[in-house]
Parts: sequence; structure tokens; C-alpha cells
Amino acid sequence: MRKPFVAGNWKMNTNGQTSVQLAKRIAAGSAETAGHGVTVAVCPPFVYLQAVTKALSSSSIAVGAQDMYFEPDGAFTGEISSSMLKDTGCTYCLCGHSERRHVIGETDELINKKVAAAISGGLLPILCVGELLSERQASKTNEVVTRQLKQGLAGLSAEKLSAVTIAYEPVRAIGTGVTATPEQAQEAHDFIRTLVGRMYDGRAAEEIRILYGGSVKPGNAAELMGCKDIDGLLVGGASLKADDFLAIIQAAV
Ligand code: PGA
Repeated sequence: MRKPFVAGNWKMNTNGQTSVQLAKRIAAGSAETAGHGVTVAVCPPFVYLQAVTKALSSSSIAVGAQDMYFEPDGAFTGEISSSMLKDTGCTYCLCGHSERRHVIGETDELINKKVAAAISGGLLPILCVGELLSERQASKTNEVVTRQLKQGLAGLSAEKLSAVTIAYEPVRAIGTGVTATPEQAQEAHDFIRTLVGRMYDGRAAEEIRILYGGSVKPGNAAELMGCKDIDGLLVGGASLKADDFLAIIQAAV
């Protein structure tokens, strides 16, 4: 069955010292659970990946990047390749996070190239999808999520899909404190799983892990995890506080 998965997205936060301190506190507090009943990953800023990987080397917590570029190397100033991320000890990579889509302007086509390159480079991509508030109000949630998934996964074989985790994050819920209700989240997760089944097959739908993200807190984590199709949580703000993140991990076991 699908193992629960809790990932912390630190976004553009922490510094050299606090990133390592946070990683160590999370490792110490989750020694009994991380890697056993639940997969745990943290996604620090690029420049602290190495230090955080080192701080977590004797733990079962995986490290992920928040983004990557799809080319293997070359004249792409400011970009980071999958092999560089592997080199620093990364296992996962977020692709198409809503802030990359809506603040930086990434397209589904670009995100698809990143997902494919992550897999070819030996990373496990976490493909983020989710609708804007205006899209939900216009009853376009399913349409938007369908487009993001079909284009984001375009050209990927069923075998490659097994490397992918999906994160559903309704944009209105990210960083706002307004979580989707468990019913809304479950409905979207069920829709995504059914769609994966149609795009691939029943087995792929059964196996793929779908995380919920958007204002996850210790107070709502257990209820969200109680939903049938929610396999884990992608946590932003609350992953920066060790105690909160540890409580969320505990709720997911
Ligand atoms: P949040 O962010 O938990 O702060 O809402 C979630 C995310 O952006 O992944």
C-alpha cells in the first residue's frame, strides 16, 4: 500500500546556520518514525542542500530540491541540473510549485521537461498542481488540474510514472492559513487518482502518492491524512518550525 509521505518546502527561508539547526531538530524528533511508517523529506534552498544533506546523513530523512533545470549542463546562467542535485545528495525535486508557475511564470511545457529530466537524472519529481481561487470560483478546478497533469506528465511511460509523486495544492490555500476543507481536498485527490487511472491504468492510479499542500498545520494534518486519497502532505510555513513539522509527521504515521 501507499506509504505516507510528508515533505517540507522551506522556500526562500533559513540561512546557513538555521537550515542545519532545523534539519537536526527534525531528525532528532523523528528518529523513530521517519523512514519507517512515513517517508519524510525536506526541501531547503539550493545553497544549503549540501549542509542539510550532511546534517541528515545519519537519519532517514530525504532531501529534495525546490526546482531544477531540464538541461544536463551548459550555458544556463543561474540554473541547477539534476546531476548537480544528485551530487549534493538530493533524492526528490519539486517541479511546478505554484510559486514557480504563478510568480516566476513557468509553463506546463517547461514543467514537463523538468519532470522528465528529473527522472532521467535519477531524481524523484514531486509534480505540483492546483487551481487559482478565480479558477475554482469559475468551477474550473478539474479542467485546470487535468491540463496540468496531462501536460506535466506528457510522454512519460508507466514505468517512469512510478518515480513521480503528485502534490495537489489549491493556490488559494498556500500561505494563506485557509486550508481546503478535507472534503474539497479528498474530492480533488479522487479526481486526480481517477485521471491517472485513465491516463495509465488502475495499477498506476492505485500506486501513485498524492500529497495535499496548502496551509497544513499540526491542527489539521490528521484530518487531512484521514481522507482516503490523501497519501501525504506538502508543508510550507509549518515546516520551518521543528515542533510543528514533527507534529505533522506524527499525524501522518
Ligand atoms: P504553506 O505552503 O504550507 O505555507 O501553505 C505550502 C506549499 O507552498 O507547498
